[in-house]
Amino acid sequence: MISDVTDPSLAETGLARVRWAEGQMPVLRSIRERFTRERPLAGLRVGACLHVTTETANLMIALKAAGASVALCASNPLSTQDDVAAALTGEFGIPTFAIKGEDELTYYRHIESVLATRPNITMDDGCDLVNVLHTRHAAQLEDVRGGTEATTTGVIRLRAMVRDGQLRFPVVAVNEALTKHMFDNRYGTGQSTLDGLIRATNVLLAGQTFVVCGYGWCGRGLATRAHGMGAQVIVTEVDPARALEALMDGYRVMPLIEACKVADVIITVTGDLNVVDKQHFQAMKDGCIVANSGHFDDEVNIPALRALSRAHRTARPLVEEYELRDGRRIYLLAEGRVLNLASAEGHPATVMDMSFANQALCAVYIAQHADALAPGVYDVPEDIDQEVARLKLASLGVRIDELTDEQRRYLASWDTGT
Ligand code: ADE
Repeated sequence: MISDVTDPSLAETGLARVRWAEGQMPVLRSIRERFTRERPLAGLRVGACLHVTTETANLMIALKAAGASVALCASNPLSTQDDVAAALTGEFGIPTFAIKGEDELTYYRHIESVLATRPNITMDDGCDLVNVLHTRHAAQLEDVRGGTEATTTGVIRLRAMVRDGQLRFPVVAVNEALTKHMFDNRYGTGQSTLDGLIRATNVLLAGQTFVVCGYGWCGRGLATRAHGMGAQVIVTEVDPARALEALMDGYRVMPLIEACKVADVIITVTGDLNVVDKQHFQAMKDGCIVANSGHFDDEVNIPALRALSRAHRTARPLVEEYELRDGRRIYLLAEGRVLNLASAEGHPATVMDMSFANQALCAVYIAQHADALAPGVYDVPEDIDQEVARLKLASLGVRIDELTDEQRRYLASWDTGT
């Protein structure tokens, strides 16, 4: 079996960690058990481009149990857990192409390696696999029944492909499931970003001025958790409704250029380009920490920071100190890449359980329904979303009420008024 991992001898360590995550993924586990009996992906090839973590390993194992041939590459050069990549190849026989710290050339070579397995179903986190497939391997498109996409940025790119008439198969936008973004994006990003910040720097958050750029689901989660750790949170936004929501959630709201003057920590979660730019670095206090937990590493204008700097050194692993010409120092974490995955372990397994339950069920949905779906971006079917929520509640031992027949009729009626 062909693979490309950092060190195959890490497989045993990786296996123990994959098992630990499995213990916190009861929904995916129950789906895997059903898949083992029913084999709904028998004979199909799945090509996945995801963060190579303990949680992703459990998804790959579930897909293999469903009868699929699976190949996996990294969806970010810095997010791979090398011991997990080793375990996937060595312990589970899943071709894996992922090396933490790989350069751009290797990153794309690894995507090519997955595409060389000629997938029938794509599973993407950020749309790089689908993009390379369409731009460099169009002849292979006829093999593909459809795909799934995990993240907000990926869904935005897919919708742009649809707008330009480029997308050639149906893709389910797993990110849009309530049981995905309300939990993964909010609680997952909230906690794991602080985890990355703390592991990278060991700073105390209490009393710090903490700036969150972007108040989508990730920003909401990050602001709540930073506030919970005692930080004074400032939110910056471009959307007036979201800005108002942040204000009424109790945060200060202002333009980033103002926030920079008082910020101790600035973290971007916007999905947009050059959010922290030249003028912002020029306004920052000495010692300001800057990081990103959005999908791509272009939210912080690193070339502009380099151009403003007279010196540069590594202060700690994945903490770069940039010394500006007037002597102020700015600390950039994880090369501006996903802080929560580069400096920590990504979202905890408990939330990834729901995200990956959606991925697994949507892969089967694509296998069974692709013939009836035109190329395009599709929401997760509501019954899958509801099923994931029901299974998660059951795994937590939480019961809820049910509508009575009378209530059901009332909700379906229009003639009962004041
Ligand atoms: N994205 C964010 N956290 C993740 C994790 N733990 N595994 C896979 N993808 C992720």
